[in-house]
Amino acid sequence: MRTNTVSLCNPLEPEDCVVQSAPETSPAKWHLAHTTWFFETFVLKPFVKGYKPFHDQFTFLFNSYYESVGSFYSRKDRGLLTRPPFSSILDYRRHVDSKLVELLHDPSPEHADDIAMRCILGLNHEQQHQELLLTDIKHLFWCNPLRPVYSQRAADTAGSTGDLHWIAFPAGVYETGHQGAGFAFDNELPRHRNFVESFQIASRPITNGEFLEFLEDGGYVRPTLWLSDGWQAVQQRGWSAPLYWERHEGTWWQFALSGMQQVSVTEPVCHVSYYEADAFARWAGKRLPTEVEWEIAAREGEQDGNFVETGRLHPHPCARETAFFGDVWEWTASSYNPYPGYRASAGALGEYNGKFMVNQQVLRGGSCVTPRSHIRASYRNFFYPHERWQFKGLRLADK
Ligand SMILES: [Fe+2]
Repeated sequence: MRTNTVSLCNPLEPEDCVVQSAPETSPAKWHLAHTTWFFETFVLKPFVKGYKPFHDQFTFLFNSYYESVGSFYSRKDRGLLTRPPFSSILDYRRHVDSKLVELLHDPSPEHADDIAMRCILGLNHEQQHQELLLTDIKHLFWCNPLRPVYSQRAADTAGSTGDLHWIAFPAGVYETGHQGAGFAFDNELPRHRNFVESFQIASRPITNGEFLEFLEDGGYVRPTLWLSDGWQAVQQRGWSAPLYWERHEGTWWQFALSGMQQVSVTEPVCHVSYYEADAFARWAGKRLPTEVEWEIAAREGEQDGNFVETGRLHPHPCARETAFFGDVWEWTASSYNPYPGYRASAGALGEYNGKFMVNQQVLRGGSCVTPRSHIRASYRNFFYPHERWQFKGLRLADK
């Protein structure tokens, strides 16, 4: 897992790893350092007797948001950190990894369970940053008029999409949330009951072709289709299409990690905000599913899909009967709230998820840059409704 993060930087030049293209993105170098800081802070410092930090200032530089750990460097200025150099970050990773291996070979028995739990959390955190590293590089490369190519493999756009059909569920009490022995984040717990009215949910996400119908029907210029905050975002941000879309001589193009390519009408639409997803649903006479409805439907089928391991790094047409996983994170109508009975854990790790539970929307299903082993039906991702740079699309629900 740790090696994979470094491998993601193989196609990059040293300069690519330093620059930050937006306040919400981070340089690749920072991702490499921060994921290492996580293990140093939450595993090595508490459990290795006399552990000497690799560098006195790294706790300040590479702490993301953990107030309990201490102050941290400004998030929007991470791209100013030309020093420490990339080579020092790799040294930092090797140092921490070797200390972790030593600890895992000989943990004190009374702390072994806690060490294991924190290492597993650290690896899941590492996977989240692997996805962010790719989405942040895509944004950075898009800002460059040369439109650099990260991976040629991603250029594969052939394939057909299955017809959209509706899957019906009766009204009733349904349990959602994580169950079983495998890892889950605390925000997937506790498992709890929900009363749900009867509903129908689409068998697959909305495609570029379907989204183009909305766009060509004046979707971006009709205020009645939009939430008030969404319409404000359209006007202030000048939105007229999904992020990374450009029109050249009557043809829509999009930027991918493989460079510029024509918009394929059979691919799932991607890089839309919650506001665009909501406006599309209203235009279509439908709605977005709640996260409960999504989870009820998704757990029925196989958890297969286009994840990072396919190497495409881009949404791909899907001909399967039902498709809930991979390709694009799907906006849900649910705001990101604690489940009934949720308690953030004590200490700094309690800051991992709980303190973000306001003003964000839940997304489900994983994307084409999510590691396959990272996702499950109960997984809750969350972002602010205006954000578009992650691989985010939508699916419809009805009734
Ligand atoms: Fe993090």
